[in-house]
Amino acid sequence: MGVQDFLVVTVIGFCFQAQILSSQNLTCNPNDMKALEDFTSSLKTVVDGWGSSFSSDCCKWEGITCNSSSSLGIGLNNSIDTFRVVKLELPSKRLAGNLSASLGTLDQLRTLNLSHNLLMHSLPTSLFHLSNLELLDLSSNDFSGPIPVDIELPSIQFLDISQNLLNGSLPGSICDKNSTQLRVLNMATNYFSGNLPQGFGNCTSLEDLDLSTNYLTGTSDGISKGIFRLRKLTRLNIQDNMLSGALSEEIGNLINLVRLDISTNGFSGTIPDVFHSLGRLQNFIAHSNRFGGQIPPSLSSSSTISLLNLRNNSLEGSIALNCSAMISLTSLNLGSNLFDGPIPSNLPSCRHLSDVSLAHNNFPGEIPKSFENFHSLSYLSLSNSSISNVSSALQILQRCRNLTTLVLTLNFPGEQFPADPILHFEKLKVLIIAYCRLTGSIPQWLRTSSRLQLLDISWNQLEGAIPIWFGNFSNLFYLDISNNSLNGEIPRSLTGLPSLINWRCPTEEPSPDFPLFALRVSGRGLQYKRVWSFRPTLDFSNNNLSGAIWPDFRKLRSLHVLDLRYNRLSGPIPSSLSEMVSLETLDLSHNELSGVIPPSLVKLSFLSKFSVADNELYGVIPTGGQFLTFSSSSFEGNSLCGHDASPCPSGEDGPLGKWYGKSDKDYTGVIAGVCVGFVFGIACFIGIDRYIWTF
Ligand SMILES: *[C@@H]1O[C@H](CO)[C@@H](O)[C@H](O)[C@H]1NC(C)=O
Ligand SMILES: *[C@@H]1O[C@H](CO)[C@@H](O)[C@H](O)[C@H]1NC(C)=O
Ligand SMILES: *[C@@H]1O[C@H](CO)[C@@H](O)[C@H](O)[C@H]1NC(C)=O
Ligand SMILES: *[C@@H]1O[C@H](CO)[C@@H](O)[C@H](O)[C@H]1NC(C)=O
Ligand SMILES: *[C@@H]1O[C@H](CO)[C@@H](O)[C@H](O)[C@H]1NC(C)=O
Ligand SMILES: *[C@@H]1O[C@H](CO)[C@@H](O)[C@H](O)[C@H]1NC(C)=O
Ligand SMILES: *[C@@H]1O[C@H](CO)[C@@H](O)[C@H](O)[C@H]1NC(C)=O
Ligand SMILES: *[C@@H]1O[C@H](CO)[C@@H](O)[C@H](O)[C@H]1NC(C)=O
Ligand SMILES: *[C@@H]1O[C@H](CO)[C@@H](O)[C@H](O)[C@H]1NC(C)=O
Ligand SMILES: *[C@@H]1O[C@H](CO)[C@@H](O)[C@H](O)[C@H]1NC(C)=O
Ligand SMILES: *[C@@H]1O[C@H](CO)[C@@H](O)[C@H](O)[C@H]1NC(C)=O
Ligand SMILES: *[C@@H]1O[C@H](CO)[C@@H](O)[C@H](O)[C@H]1NC(C)=O
Repeated sequence: MGVQDFLVVTVIGFCFQAQILSSQNLTCNPNDMKALEDFTSSLKTVVDGWGSSFSSDCCKWEGITCNSSSSLGIGLNNSIDTFRVVKLELPSKRLAGNLSASLGTLDQLRTLNLSHNLLMHSLPTSLFHLSNLELLDLSSNDFSGPIPVDIELPSIQFLDISQNLLNGSLPGSICDKNSTQLRVLNMATNYFSGNLPQGFGNCTSLEDLDLSTNYLTGTSDGISKGIFRLRKLTRLNIQDNMLSGALSEEIGNLINLVRLDISTNGFSGTIPDVFHSLGRLQNFIAHSNRFGGQIPPSLSSSSTISLLNLRNNSLEGSIALNCSAMISLTSLNLGSNLFDGPIPSNLPSCRHLSDVSLAHNNFPGEIPKSFENFHSLSYLSLSNSSISNVSSALQILQRCRNLTTLVLTLNFPGEQFPADPILHFEKLKVLIIAYCRLTGSIPQWLRTSSRLQLLDISWNQLEGAIPIWFGNFSNLFYLDISNNSLNGEIPRSLTGLPSLINWRCPTEEPSPDFPLFALRVSGRGLQYKRVWSFRPTLDFSNNNLSGAIWPDFRKLRSLHVLDLRYNRLSGPIPSSLSEMVSLETLDLSHNELSGVIPPSLVKLSFLSKFSVADNELYGVIPTGGQFLTFSSSSFEGNSLCGHDASPCPSGEDGPLGKWYGKSDKDYTGVIAGVCVGFVFGIACFIGIDRYIWTF
């Protein structure tokens, strides 16, 4: 049998023979084998597919590549040293434990990818002396401590240690020892502190540098001898650090930049007028700094900038963009500055501009008539910007054919909500006109916005009834009409809202690439969220609604928040509400509800907030499920007994007796409730409190 015949036989599956062949001939270098054994013994977990095959050829183990994969080599060459480990790739394998220094002896290694595991403790120094290593990806682990000072990786091209717990200072010398091919360096989301080292200036081939979300300090004058020399950089991310002082004009040296993000630092002074040099820059993100003065002319006439975010600075004066020059601009966020003067009437001539926030500035006056021709506009926020005349604003904006999201919160104080029957917002998906103290009733023209997904007209002074046609909004999943003076019954049609019966996470966010809302996240400060982070909600609280709670609410199996507190609702609490399986919040407090609390409600296993306080309920408080977690304030102001409120008279009998002790031992609800984030959180929204601020 010739060698080739033999190979054909092996290839078609005589594994046993192949095993013998390979264990004799195709073995990895014994030193490499030893290194890999040490690697596995410092792990707390086993590597899938490695455990049983120690005796045979490590070149065949999953994730290992040796420097010959050519099957023709097999059997022709008896030299055992020929096959060396050149790649070790085990990303996302749930590997836990320490990373062994032995990997430093894999001196032929070119690729090491152990990203997205649970590896911890320090990074072995030996890894940073691998002379052939081209790609090192240790991102998204739990490595801690400093990174070695003397780095010598002459072949390195790609180095990613982001998303770990590393601290200490950045390795300024990383490129001093001939790392001249380094193109990508990512150290983001760690605990690095100290200055941005000048030594990075030796990394002359860097194209992508990400140092964001660390604790770096210092001024940009300090880095000008380093980073600002890297002329090949296309992406520079230094956002979310503690850098301060003026932004050096030398940033203009980075002529190849496509994306520059310096947001959430303490930069002050004026933005340098160097954007004519940055002839490829598309994204400039500088929000949440302390820049003052005006937008520099070279920036307000940049033909390449597509995304400009200067929110949350102290920029002032009137906004003067040259829209004939800004032909690439699609997204403009100038919110939360000190801009004043009129709303720039030339914005519609920025041909591709689709997302605009000018919120939280001071533009007394009306929306310019020219906005009638703003056909590229998709998202507009003018919250809290002193604009007046809601009637004219809506007349003009209805002509913006592509408008899908409109946020006008905190304007037009005390004006009347226009009832004009001819207003027509066909494409609108999100409408927020809250905190305006608008008078009048919910206008008929809203009917035409049949694609509405999110409607918030809370904190106005609207009177009259909730229209029956709200039930026709087939995409509506978030409705907040709280804090008005609405009266009458809750229309029964709302119990048929399709998006609350069967909510599917939409694939298309109404306003891409634009964080819309600030949410107060308990203990973690502000987060900026998009529309899909809202939980399916009906908030009717603080009105004068009367009548009963429809038993048919049971159909709303996708509803997460039902808030009916502070109304005048009466009648019983329907026991069918227990079928609203997604409910996390059910607040019926401060109404005139009577009867008993249906024991079936203990089946609502995701319920974390529940109140029926201040009603006319009586009888026994159900026990079990999530009810074990509610405090007595959820039940006060009624004639209820049980729970830890007031003990029921012993031997209580009669109509309530049959519920006694029924689901005492039912803890499954509590356990399920803990998992709420996993069941509903990942696919779409992350359960967060209300937003406090719209941009
Ligand atoms: C390698 O394989 C060839 C062909 O199967 C065989 O003749 C040779 O003895 C093997 N070498 C070793 C070192 O086992
Ligand atoms: C076998 O090994 C020798 C030296 O060790 C090398 O020159 C030769 O190219 C190898 N042959 C094959 C087919 O790999
Ligand atoms: C694998 O790498 C070693 C060390 O550089 C070398 O001696 C050997 O020839 C290489 N083998 C192949 C098949 O490329
Ligand atoms: C490492 O592996 C992960 C998961 O397969 C992959 O997403 C990542 O791009 C790899 N890293 C590099 C630098 O190729
Ligand atoms: C892992 O490293 C830490 C700190 O370097 C050490 O205390 C621990 O003993 C190591 N564990 C193993 C299993 O090697
Ligand atoms: C790094 O973190 C460790 C604890 O993980 C701490 O002991 C050490 O002081 C920190 N070093 C610096 C420079 O912050
Ligand atoms: C850098 O590389 C050159 C040649 O590629 C070599 O002569 C020099 O010694 C190297 N320098 C260091 C610091 O390794
Ligand atoms: C660049 O590296 C050399 C050593 O090769 C060093 O002397 C020099 O100071 C480095 N440059 C900077 C800006 O750190
Ligand atoms: C505004 O910027 C400051 C300073 O960077 C930051 O502390 C604050 O959280 C930012 N506020 C908002 C609403 O983003
Ligand atoms: C606006 O830009 C255009 C095109 O670049 C230019 O011709 C015009 O002079 C600029 N206008 C102003 C006021 O700077
Ligand atoms: C309006 O939106 C559509 C689809 O999103 C888009 O194709 C069209 O170009 C937009 N119109 C304008 C004037 O930008
Ligand atoms: C609205 O703007 C005013 C003045 O700029 C400011 O004082 C106030 O805090 C803002 N209100 C909200 C809710 O952001």
